[in-house]
Amino acid sequence: MTTSPRTLRAAPRNIFTMNQNAIRIFRELPSGHSAEVNPYYEILKKSCKNKTLPLLYGPFLKEKKGNWREEFENSPIDLILEIGCHKGSTLCQIAEDNKELGFIGIDITYKRVCETASLAVSKELQNIRSVLANGNELSYIFQEAELSGIIIFFPDPWLKKKRQKKNRLIKREFCDIIRNLLKKEGFVWFKTDSEEYFTEARDAFLNSGFKQGDLNNTFFKKNYESTFESRFRKQGLGKYESIFIVSPSISLVE
Ligand SMILES: C[S@@+](CC[C@H](N)C(=O)[O-])C[C@H]1O[C@@H](n2cnc3c(N)ncnc32)[C@H](O)[C@@H]1O
Repeated sequence: MTTSPRTLRAAPRNIFTMNQNAIRIFRELPSGHSAEVNPYYEILKKSCKNKTLPLLYGPFLKEKKGNWREEFENSPIDLILEIGCHKGSTLCQIAEDNKELGFIGIDITYKRVCETASLAVSKELQNIRSVLANGNELSYIFQEAELSGIIIFFPDPWLKKKRQKKNRLIKREFCDIIRNLLKKEGFVWFKTDSEEYFTEARDAFLNSGFKQGDLNNTFFKKNYESTFESRFRKQGLGKYESIFIVSPSISLVE
């Protein structure tokens, strides 16, 4: 039987929200990827199934919401998420200096997720999990107040065309979501090379009930230069950075 797009559109919404398989983040990777085209496809699948690398994707994320602490041997009290962790260089540096914390790095490419996990293994870091996930899907995999901090260094600024701005991760709706996923006084550490993105993101954080903080509001004793930060510094480009803290005392005024 074929189903017309019209029938699909008419289906009640709760069929999709109730069925975890329908949620994109929990889906198995699409079949038919050739190892020659993307060798990381097989690496990701096999390493996750056999637990040979500390990485997770799709169906393996289904039971994680609310249970991330148990992922780590020492059940850390505080969990830090890095969104857009790239090849894991910054995540590994921070995790190496803060072994009592649990770190979860997410990225949207198979290759970067595999490379982050491999780097963590090569550095013998037990406190990192590398996850294939989109920053827009966090509420499916994290529970309210499950995170103590979120790192977002140099998210794609989408500057080339005006209409691309809608693809930016940090906007008011996103800030409202992550505010709920953070503990009281949890932090977001944000850096970008785009002044315009910084200004818009700062307004979104402040309007969402965050207040501005500093490194003392994190667990970290020093700043860390990310891969893109170093690349941009060498090109003489600017850097805009701030730490935002969840502030339950602020009344939310639109
Ligand atoms: C410009 S790079 C910055 C990498 C790293 N944070 C740094 O500062 O060196 C942006 C990274 O974010 C990832 N990314 C882009 N959109 C994302 C999204 N919606 N969710 C998670 N990661 C994303 C990209 O794959 C890339 O690794």
